[in-house]
Amino acid sequence: MTPARVPRFLQRHVADSAAERAEAQRALLAPAASASPKYFYDRLGSHLFEAITELPEYYPTRTEAAIFAAHGQAMARHVGVGTTLIDLGAGNCAKAVRMFPLFEPARYVAIDISVDFLRDALAGVQRAHPQLDVVGLGLDFSRALDMPAELIEGRPAFFYPGSSIGNFTPAEALGFLRSVRARASGGGLLIGIDLIKPAPLLEAAYADALGVTAAFNLNLLRHLNRLIGSDFDPACWRHIGLYNASEARVEMHLEARDNLTVRWPGGQRAFAAGERLHTENSHKYSIDGFSALLQAAGFDAPVHWTDPQGWFAVFWAPAG
Ligand code: AVI
Repeated sequence: MTPARVPRFLQRHVADSAAERAEAQRALLAPAASASPKYFYDRLGSHLFEAITELPEYYPTRTEAAIFAAHGQAMARHVGVGTTLIDLGAGNCAKAVRMFPLFEPARYVAIDISVDFLRDALAGVQRAHPQLDVVGLGLDFSRALDMPAELIEGRPAFFYPGSSIGNFTPAEALGFLRSVRARASGGGLLIGIDLIKPAPLLEAAYADALGVTAAFNLNLLRHLNRLIGSDFDPACWRHIGLYNASEARVEMHLEARDNLTVRWPGGQRAFAAGERLHTENSHKYSIDGFSALLQAAGFDAPVHWTDPQGWFAVFWAPAG
């Protein structure tokens, strides 16, 4: 009897907490104060993000799921079977696993910042797919996609759903797409993109009536307090979600309700009433704009699928 397969794990990202603290303090002290959106995702923040994806106003998750459900077979004809499927920001792996019956990958490489976030999900994936070669890779691919080349066997199919590329600037997105292209030869990239649409729809998605996105944004302050020992009081800040049409992006900010000073060991920053801390950009694209970005990154002419309202798109970008 052949022994049962088990997932393999490889942790490449090593947290440097001193560098992270210094970077967070520099961003707070800059003339236009900011905090990295990565601080949304502590334990509570990850639950709040899950809740956001259930909100009626937050259309991206369910719209993308509907596109995958409607066009999965057409996508599979481009992706092909027997690939190494590389899931960027895999989390609970659910989106990729839903595509397994159509894509039939030979190997599944799930990437997230820490393999610890992947262990339970990948144990379940392996149980449900005993023949699949399953690998968990702990990597901060937003900094560098330095995955070991030997993890790709045969045709690579990169999978980046969720429109998370919108959280990069367009210049960062181009750099990131180039790094995917460099590893995708013979295969390609399947990626979800949020499209430009009227401002009221976008602003409702990022400033919902229940205040879940506000809690998600404010929770970042508690994460910063733990990280650098600051004394942010979430009650003193107001959530802002606005569409900046000239940059084609939704911006999230936290606005000081009154004049206040935030202190931490070795530093402090005064904020005037109405002054903002910029916490996130979520860039939106047109079909033509994102096609051009993919081709500037070295991919061949992409194909795409959208929902009937044209709110969201999934692109397959081949890498010949
Ligand atoms: C993860 N990312 C694609 C989400 C977005 O829509 O930019 C994060 C988010 N921020 C507020 N709501 C959701």
